[in-house]
Amino acid sequence: MSTVPPTLQAYRASLLHFHADPAFHDDAHAWHRDGLLIVEAGRVKAAGDYAALLPTLPAGTVVTDYSGKIICPGFIDTHLHYPQSDMIASPAPGLLPWLETYTFPTERKFDDPAHARATAEFFLDELLRCGTTTAMVYCTVHRASVDAFFEASEARQLRMAAGKVLMDRHCPAFLRDTAQQGVRDSEDLINKWHGHARSMYAITPRFAPTSSETQLRLAGELAAAYPTTYIQTHVSENAEECRWVRELFPAQRSYLHVYEHYGFMRPRAIFGHCIWLDDTDFARMAETGSAVAVCPTSNLFLGSGLFDFEKADSVHTLLSLATDVGAGTSFSMLQTMNEAYKVARLKGSYLPALRMFYLATLGAARSMQLEGTIGNFAPGAEADFIVLDPQCTPLLARRTGHLESLEELLFALALLGDDRAVQATYAAGTLVHQRNN
Ligand code: GUN
Ligand code: ZN
Repeated sequence: MSTVPPTLQAYRASLLHFHADPAFHDDAHAWHRDGLLIVEAGRVKAAGDYAALLPTLPAGTVVTDYSGKIICPGFIDTHLHYPQSDMIASPAPGLLPWLETYTFPTERKFDDPAHARATAEFFLDELLRCGTTTAMVYCTVHRASVDAFFEASEARQLRMAAGKVLMDRHCPAFLRDTAQQGVRDSEDLINKWHGHARSMYAITPRFAPTSSETQLRLAGELAAAYPTTYIQTHVSENAEECRWVRELFPAQRSYLHVYEHYGFMRPRAIFGHCIWLDDTDFARMAETGSAVAVCPTSNLFLGSGLFDFEKADSVHTLLSLATDVGAGTSFSMLQTMNEAYKVARLKGSYLPALRMFYLATLGAARSMQLEGTIGNFAPGAEADFIVLDPQCTPLLARRTGHLESLEELLFALALLGDDRAVQATYAAGTLVHQRNN
């Protein structure tokens, strides 16, 4: 009779994960060139050198052999919009015309639950193809868009955060809720989904211009009443938008301060973009435990501006990377790293590949207060992981055929890789995507 528990699995590959931020700590990462990841009942049991861990396995344990590949934690994308999957790569001269011309008409279609379901299915499969296992997702103003999303993500066993968009002004009537109804719907959705399976609720006021002061106040009160929920919104993305906010909220010191005024700044608050924050704003981000979702492909696409990594790091703000699909131009966190690297260069700073892999894994988990649950291979963590193939294209094979360092390997994957580099994706120890070459 076999002594191997049926829920025990093992994977041989090079292993990469983080236990600290490489920008501030030496030896922040673990790298096992010939490594073994042991998973039991959907959680990490151990991660280390193959030679050391193999003898700990019961005789007869099946070891899946991914030698030559890299296993790392699943990517975490901290800001994107599932309803915008159908309008990715839609041209417009900047944020506000893009919202009017494409975004609002596209989001209108989510009054149809069947459309919401079909789009959620596509969106989640696309994330898994790109190696993203957790995301902070905007739905639309329609509460059924949230149900459709979580039903699809739970069917795939994914840890996902999402929420109903709140907006009660400065948008077409067909997308408008009211301050009271929007918050009532959000509370119902919290009670239905937050903590159900691996689902987590995010209170989601779109951005300050589309919420009345009453709606912002009620959203802040809801966030205080449910401190384990997330809160997500956009801030200081675009110069024209920032001017508009100054006009709408003349009494507040800054755009970010509008959110602080209404009680949004707290741990588990994730603010998308943060391009035009000043020094005081960055300090408040850090002091309140709020987190930045840096969205480089979106910011370049819409011409919004360049995120200042150095300023954020000078006060140790929580940072993560995000695609911001559909203003973002790729679902791939590797391509998001590629653009983040260039944004940093244009601001005169430098983002090593190790830092970018940290930001897309443990950095994002820390931003979401989920360290120990996802983002690395600490014993007991949920076994969300991906298998990356450094030889997935002729060019990557050629470039990674001669390497001086781990940094060069990861840099090549970030600059040249995309969904093709993701050979397999596992969620809670279950295979949820496998690439057919
Ligand atoms: N600001 C308000 N709404 C949006 C949105 O949908 N996308 C982006 N990029 N910025 C926004
Ligand atoms: Zn966005």
